[in-house]
Amino acid sequence: MKIITKISESRDEINVFRCVGKRIGFVPTMGYLHEGHLSLVKKCREENDIVVVSIFVNPTQFGAGEDFECYPKDLKKDAALLQGAGVDFLFTPSVEEMYPEGFSTAISVSGISDGLCGSSRPGHFDGVALVVTKLLNIIMPHKAYFGMKDYQQLQVIKRFVADLNMNTKIIGMPIIRETDGLALSSRNIYLNADERRSALCLSRSFALVCEALEGGETEVSEVKTIVENFIKDHPHTRIDYVQFVDPETLKPVKDLTKDFLLALAVYVGKARLIDNNIFKVM
Ligand code: PAJ
Repeated sequence: MKIITKISESRDEINVFRCVGKRIGFVPTMGYLHEGHLSLVKKCREENDIVVVSIFVNPTQFGAGEDFECYPKDLKKDAALLQGAGVDFLFTPSVEEMYPEGFSTAISVSGISDGLCGSSRPGHFDGVALVVTKLLNIIMPHKAYFGMKDYQQLQVIKRFVADLNMNTKIIGMPIIRETDGLALSSRNIYLNADERRSALCLSRSFALVCEALEGGETEVSEVKTIVENFIKDHPHTRIDYVQFVDPETLKPVKDLTKDFLLALAVYVGKARLIDNNIFKVM
């Protein structure tokens, strides 16, 4: 695996393969890799000739007071994991390389990025859209892989890739969880043992929703209260949002008679955790 830090070098290296018809696959990350990231890399390895992974903690997608400064990092370990996963190129640019002096461009995706994390983290998806656009322009992959753990992010990326006629197929991948249900996240490192136990309330609330649906409940407000009370019963938790939305538009659903997505954002201690599940309603 070759580690590249310069945009010009990544272009030169990857072009060699593109020109001879090789299929380029790409997995963008912010590092501190876990099995969730590696599931994307594995799929990318299976479906492409050349696998590129990026590690870049993107400052433009963090708001004031968020964890940009202390976002966990372990490049040595990450590189070893990626090498073991058969990655060809690790692209890990500096902030100055990605945002040199004079950088002035913004990308904003309206509608799909308005609610959920878009309202709790103003500007977050502008930052994601900007960096992913830049990364896709730099790597120019045939396919790029993103997790459904960040469901809204995936929908935002699909939207601007279509809107801007970008020539990359966006692939969404299932959420990888610990055996007890906690969705893997680089931010789980912030949890102490007590908080780690409380963090299970996110994934465990999905079973409560199933129970309510099986009992014939179709009122959003009823099921929302069940989920909110369940989360509040767990120490160290503070709800950011509990939202029942249409899986395509991400707009709130009026009742639970059609397929819906339950999207959760909950602070557990200082960690802001997100999780989601799509419920199929017959
Ligand atoms: P990061 O949080 O490092 O995640 C990188 C990719 O891994 C994202 O597509 C995310 O959805 C996926 N992922 C994270 N946890 C997962 C899990 N438990 N199961 C499956 N996939 C999982 O998301 C970002 O970085 C950034 O916003 C980025 C897209 C790189 C832009 O900066």
